[in-house]
Amino acid sequence: MARLISYFYPITKKIESDINGTLEITWYNGKKHLNTKNANYSYGSLQRILKFGLEKIELSNVNSVLLLGLGGGSVIQTLRKDFNYKKNITAIEIDPTIINIAKDEFQLQNNQQLEIICADALQYIEENKSTFDLIIIDLFIDTQVPKQFLDLPFWENILQRKSTNGVILFNASLENSMNTELKTIIDYLKTHVYKVSVFEKVNNTNTIVITRPL
Ligand SMILES: C[S@@+](CC[C@H](N)C(=O)[O-])C[C@H]1O[C@@H](n2cnc3c(N)ncnc32)[C@H](O)[C@@H]1O
Repeated sequence: MARLISYFYPITKKIESDINGTLEITWYNGKKHLNTKNANYSYGSLQRILKFGLEKIELSNVNSVLLLGLGGGSVIQTLRKDFNYKKNITAIEIDPTIINIAKDEFQLQNNQQLEIICADALQYIEENKSTFDLIIIDLFIDTQVPKQFLDLPFWENILQRKSTNGVILFNASLENSMNTELKTIIDYLKTHVYKVSVFEKVNNTNTIVITRPL
């Protein structure tokens, strides 16, 4: 019923989170979205932006995915449904309220192919020594990428978690132009990986960075 009514009027449920502030689960045009006060987190423009990035990646070579920033898990839905990706995904999310929303509202569950871990992505990357074929970095608090993910020590660790032929997909900013911190990261990546592609104004807004071997 909510789905049908949402074609005429958006229907919103609000949930308070200590980390992300007021979260809104909104039925709009027959689809459920997860939003913060100022940003779409999942199943809206964000999902289209990450899909744009995934279309640039050869997923047949990918046997393991590390997702930093689970949100409502819309990129997992994209990987599974649009790209038929059936292999392992490990998802790291700092906010237990968001994890509950992903499970209760968007039907994500831990299973053999999906491991959801409640942890700070920075700490996880420092402490966990596994490597992954694709690392998706989608870490925001409302409209901002937290500062620690724009510092080079995080990126030094990320390069160690990437398998030899691994690919990184970074949703770098909600702004349509690059800031100084992002330029520093891109320069650093260019000296350490084979190829760095930067896509600006994806969906008219975000900057996406993809690194991959030649
Ligand atoms: C835009 S949402 C992710 C959307 C998700 N990738 C999807 O496809 O639906 C950003 C997420 O990053 C999480 N986040 C922010 N800081 C974090 C941190 N330090 N460690 C782990 N997750 C973090 C937020 O709680 C939020 O759920």
